[in-house]
Amino acid sequence: MYQLCPSILSADFNRLGEQIKILEEEGIEWLHIDVMDGDFVPSISFGMPVIKSIRKESKLFFDVHLMVTEPERYIRDFVDCGADSITVHAEACEDLERTIEQIREAGVKVGVSIKPATPVNDISHMLEDVDMVLVMTVQPGFGGQKYMEECTEKIQELRDLIQDEDLNVDIQVDGGINDETMETVLKAGANLVVAGSYVFKDDLVSGVRHAKKRMNE
Ligand code: DX5
Ligand code: ZN
Repeated sequence: MYQLCPSILSADFNRLGEQIKILEEEGIEWLHIDVMDGDFVPSISFGMPVIKSIRKESKLFFDVHLMVTEPERYIRDFVDCGADSITVHAEACEDLERTIEQIREAGVKVGVSIKPATPVNDISHMLEDVDMVLVMTVQPGFGGQKYMEECTEKIQELRDLIQDEDLNVDIQVDGGINDETMETVLKAGANLVVAGSYVFKDDLVSGVRHAKKRMNE
């Protein structure tokens, strides 16, 4: 399964509902939702109230990326406000195994994410317990950054591991996707591609059409 996952961090929040509707009309299935706490990452984005209100109008798959310290404190809240999948950072959890279990028990899909400096090795023992691994290809915290080339081999390493162990785990990448890096990450083995500025920066309809086309080429 391949999915383009537009990140609403780059949306125009004054027109958020309208923009999500456009994404739906253009055939998008996954919506990437970046929650930042000003502690795990320097910036603060938005939280439960925003997710709750867009949930009322949208049937998209809500892929919630928690860039939050000790996310175990908030799993229930994010499920209650409409998350379909919750991704936590390996670096942010007190007890990563327990947090993953907690997400699973809450009945949504489970993702684990690693920052650019965190080796695949740190999470390779838990591939059987997650639905997806999110490989950050920029330092988490802001949209519009440059793709970090050194992350490409982590995507490859992960794809090899998943293949060798015959597992059903998605590989998502997040950060710095453009025409060129789209090709790089797909070649390396990613199947879920997050895109913020690539999709939202100019006209949303043409942005999303263009990105989808590049993804399917
Ligand atoms: C970064 C966020 C990303 C970000 C991607 O911390 O997790 O989802 O919005 O933005 P672009 O695609 O513009 O790099
Ligand atoms: Zn993200």
